[in-house]
Amino acid sequence: MTAPAVSAAVQVPMNDLSLQHATIREQMDTALAEVVASCGFILGPRVAAFEEAFARYCGVDHCVGVSNGTDALVLTLRALGVGAGDEVITTPYTFGATAEAICQVGARPVFVDVEDRQLCLDPSLVEAAITARTKVIMPVHIYGHPADMTPLLATAGVHNIDVVEDAAQAQGARRGAATSGSMGRAGCFSFYPGKNLGAYGDAGGITTNDQALAQRLRSLRNHGMPLSGPKFHYDLLGHNNRMDGIQGAVLEVKLPYLEDWNESRRRIADRYREQLGDVGDLQLPTEAEDARHVYHLFTIRTQQRDGLAAHLRAAGVSSAVMYPLPLHLTDAYAFLGHAEGSFPVSEQACREILSIPIFPELADDLVDHVSEQVRAFFGTSARGRS
Ligand SMILES: Cc1ncc(COP(=O)(O)O)c(C=O)c1O
Repeated sequence: MTAPAVSAAVQVPMNDLSLQHATIREQMDTALAEVVASCGFILGPRVAAFEEAFARYCGVDHCVGVSNGTDALVLTLRALGVGAGDEVITTPYTFGATAEAICQVGARPVFVDVEDRQLCLDPSLVEAAITARTKVIMPVHIYGHPADMTPLLATAGVHNIDVVEDAAQAQGARRGAATSGSMGRAGCFSFYPGKNLGAYGDAGGITTNDQALAQRLRSLRNHGMPLSGPKFHYDLLGHNNRMDGIQGAVLEVKLPYLEDWNESRRRIADRYREQLGDVGDLQLPTEAEDARHVYHLFTIRTQQRDGLAAHLRAAGVSSAVMYPLPLHLTDAYAFLGHAEGSFPVSEQACREILSIPIFPELADDLVDHVSEQVRAFFGTSARGRS
């Protein structure tokens, strides 16, 4: 059987949040109406309920709901006492927020290149970057694939350094039995609307098994006020980084669906893999043996990236380059003094990567259409599917 015919005018977006909303509309309307009726707009019971549920989901004792993923990183570094004169090891192959958060607390990002398979921080290069000033190693679970945590944790342990996971793109990803956000001293999540678990606005969360750290984070997110005792007494120099009640309610409604949504993403990834396994110079995303990738993005690689992107655009298929430059080659990080060639694996990936549509509600015929268009670009005929 051939793939179902898709109209010539078909458009395939990178994501369509309205499709997901339609599947949970009634539940969501009820939850949102309850927040409005109770006027629990900032923190409150819905945020607390989500925090508890997400902590349980990640297999940790605590989750602290905050305003967004960037603030989750900043607050965590601050709560760990990272500041001026300190260094934080991370990857230049990430969204700007990772390194921005390090700079926001006054510390210096120390970039270490990624490995060539899943494009996460290369554990074999970390040791050489550690100095007396290193306070934290911050791997990024890029695209939803968890970094190779075992060797990173071992290196950190030897040097008595904390590991903070940037799990912004990796809700529900696992390495062995461990869920992202449960492997380091803390895990930082973004619940930006397009994430695998997305709010209806900005939101973020920090997971940890460290009770004292969780308490400090709860105080820091709310202007440094103590968790109990008289109001308007300030123990710490804090921030306004609280999660909204509405976002807590949205995330609480959505969390029970996350496993199914991640499974749908994994099924779509398999379908792409079946159809694109032998096409041109294409490299498809791979999964480490003990990893459960949750495909926040399905990112392919080819030396003809720009041509492929143009071909897809003309065929109504969206795609995205995330990210066109490793951070060390962007103007904001020029002060670190790196140049082309400093992190060759990241640099080459940035020249070759292209993310193609993946989201739980993406229909099979559209997945097949994307694959056909990719194959057409490389001059390979579409494959029949049974
Ligand atoms: C790897 C990474 N870290 C941090 C963030 C920051 O999250 P937010 O946009 O919620 O501030 C993002 C957001 O996309 C991200 O992808």
